[in-house]
Amino acid sequence: MFKKVRIPLKLSLAAFFLAGTTYAFQNEATVKLYNTYCVQCHGLNRNGKGVNTHDIAVQPRDHTDPKGMGDMPDDELTKAITEGGLSVNKSVIMPRWGLTLSTDQVKDLVSYLRVVCKCGPKKEGSTNVGN
Ligand code: HEC
Repeated sequence: MFKKVRIPLKLSLAAFFLAGTTYAFQNEATVKLYNTYCVQCHGLNRNGKGVNTHDIAVQPRDHTDPKGMGDMPDDELTKAITEGGLSVNKSVIMPRWGLTLSTDQVKDLVSYLRVVCKCGPKKEGSTNVGN
């Protein structure tokens, strides 16, 4: 009787820890993506002041700015990252990442940007769109 109860308990504990590990890994992987592909322009401090920005006409977005980032809906951020700045009428200097990153990686980056700006997700059709 005891043995029968113990096995499922162990299994569910293992599943619990595994799930926890996967989540932490995903976050870390996303931070790593940002540190690999984005910091040279958007900056190690995520404030738009990367090492690559001296001579460029349009300065990269400050991803820590809750106001500027808060005004942008999630789908616009997704589009900007996937198809590049031009696709959302922003600078062509913002590269398109759709060929480099998967849809899931872009989605994780958008969630991560919401953590960086401390401004929470914003749905399409809310106020301030196209102002
Ligand atoms: C070569 C420099 C460069 C790199 C690398 C770069 N960006 Fe950008 N990014 C820009 C510039 C410049 C803008 C500002 C465009 C504007 O305001 O016209 C921008 C704007 C953005 C925006 C805001 C778009 C908007 O609607 O205002 C997002 C989101 C963004 N970048 C995400 C990223 C992410 C995520 C990465 C890494 C995968 C990345 N960028 C890498 C230069 C860069």
